[in-house]
Order: sequence, then structure tokens, then C-alpha cells
Amino acid sequence: MSAWFDVRVSAVRAITPVIREFTFEALDGTLPGFSSGSHVQLCLPNGVRNAYSLLGDPAETGYYRIAVRRQEQSRGGSRYLHEQLQVDEHLRLGAPANLFALHGEARRHILVAGGIGITPFLAHCRELLRRGADFELHYAYRAGISDAYRGELRELLGERLHEYDSAQRPLDLNQILRQRPLGSHVYACGPQRLLLALREQAAALGWCDSRVHWEAFAAPEPGLPFRVELARSGRQLEVAAEQSLLEALEAADVDVPNLCRGGVCGQCQTRYLKGEVEHRDHFLDAGERASSLMPCVSRGCGPILLDL
Ligand code: FES
Repeated sequence: MSAWFDVRVSAVRAITPVIREFTFEALDGTLPGFSSGSHVQLCLPNGVRNAYSLLGDPAETGYYRIAVRRQEQSRGGSRYLHEQLQVDEHLRLGAPANLFALHGEARRHILVAGGIGITPFLAHCRELLRRGADFELHYAYRAGISDAYRGELRELLGERLHEYDSAQRPLDLNQILRQRPLGSHVYACGPQRLLLALREQAAALGWCDSRVHWEAFAAPEPGLPFRVELARSGRQLEVAAEQSLLEALEAADVDVPNLCRGGVCGQCQTRYLKGEVEHRDHFLDAGERASSLMPCVSRGCGPILLDL
């Protein structure tokens, strides 16, 4: 990460019983602008650092907004944000990065959101409206639970919004993807099962990979504690059950490039020389996994030796 900003929490709002929205303002100076689809890393006082999509209108500067779903399997990130973070508290945020940008040459943008995966599309929709672009949003949710910003989107999008309340009308990916004109691009954000199903359906219908875009910001899951040795310095580190390997390296001042912190961007790829690894990323292929791991999500099954 190249830059960090000290921010103040200027608003906290419950959007649904399990989703909260947080607004941040710079303590000093201004926050940099961002493009739709960008995310920021949030550094919490409990040591957890996760990435969250910016959901505000990129044209509105001066503050950032994110929305967070409470996760039952939380390592402390969503639990801290839901139970402890209050207005006026100070935090650190990373500079915005974009791994989920709109494709400049798409003739039609088909957006597919599942639950809290709606967040990057709130920014995308405003941007696409401003551009006068051809687009539609398909939004799957559980009414009253994960249907954040539904009213706002209805007002903003009218007939461009297609809703799928899971209790009444399941998302039909085949119908969404079939017989689309050349130049259509599809973008999806939501739970892993939705992303997998979308990619499978797109492949079955002959969509080429370059027209299928997806974002999976799965926060790392906890696991068993393990020990790491750094081959170049001989240092030994302990990775706690609730901590990612990347967080343990950062706590020891070992710098590893990173962007998504969810095993998808490839930035944190690190070589290991010994040990058994539980690979949890969506980036490395089987061959690469024999010598590399993604420390933002993957863990040692026992002690591991890193080429650091
Ligand atoms: S930071 Fe993106 S894969 Fe690890």
C-alpha cells in the first residue's frame, strides 16, 4: 500500500438488521477521488485489516462510504464494525484501488449482485447513468435481511432494476446471460456460490472470459495457529488462529505488497520453501501452488519456511 489516511467516522447507519453503513472523513486535508468499483483497506484497532468497496458516487468528493454485513464467522472485522465502532472514532484507511472497473468498450453492462455484493454497483450505477450507458442491474437478496439500498435503487434505476427476493423468485442466470448482443459485459459481486454459478453459466453459453468480470472480497477465515520461519533473516513468527499470515508479517514489519486481501488479485504472491500449505486463494493454479502461496488468505498446515 502506498498511502494511508487518518479518518474520522462521521456517520454510522443501520441499513438492515445485518448491514451497517459507515461514512469516513479525512482528519487532515482531503481524501483522494476514486473510480467506481474501487475498494479501500480499513485498518481496525484490533489489528484486523480488510478491504471494502466504496459505495458512494465517485463524483462526490470529501468522504468515503462503505457498508458491512455482519458475518457470523468473523475474525473480528465485521463484529468490531457492528458492535464497537462509533461516530467520532479515528481509523486508518488505505488509498483506493480498483480491481473491478467498468469495461471501457462494453456496449451493454449487465450487473449481477447478491446481498452485500450490491456495494460496488451503487457506485457503478451512478457512473453508468452519468455516462448515459446501456445497463441493467439484477439484485438478489433476502427481503428485510440483505436487501440494502433497495428503495434507493428503485428510485434511481426504475426499470433497469430487476429484483430477486430469494423467498419468491430465485435468480435465473441462464435467462440473464442468454442471447445477449456482442459487446455485452457481465459483472458480478456476491457470495462465492453466485460467482461460481455465474462463471459456469457464462462458459456454458459461450461467453468469453474477457467479458465476464467478478469480485470476491472474501475476508480471510480463521484457522489453526502455525509457525513461520523467514529464510533470509532466520526470524520466526507465530500466526494466531484469528490472524492471517499477511497480518502476522505486517505486525512484524515485513512488507508484502497487497491489494484485495481476499486471495484474488495476486499481489501478495510469496514463495515458500518448506512445509504444507492450505491454499485458500482464487489466483494460483495447481502448478504454482507447489512453490507459492497467497499469505492474505492461505495458511500453513504446520510450520512453513517462506522465501522472505
Ligand atoms: S492481496 Fe490480493 S491475493 Fe493477496
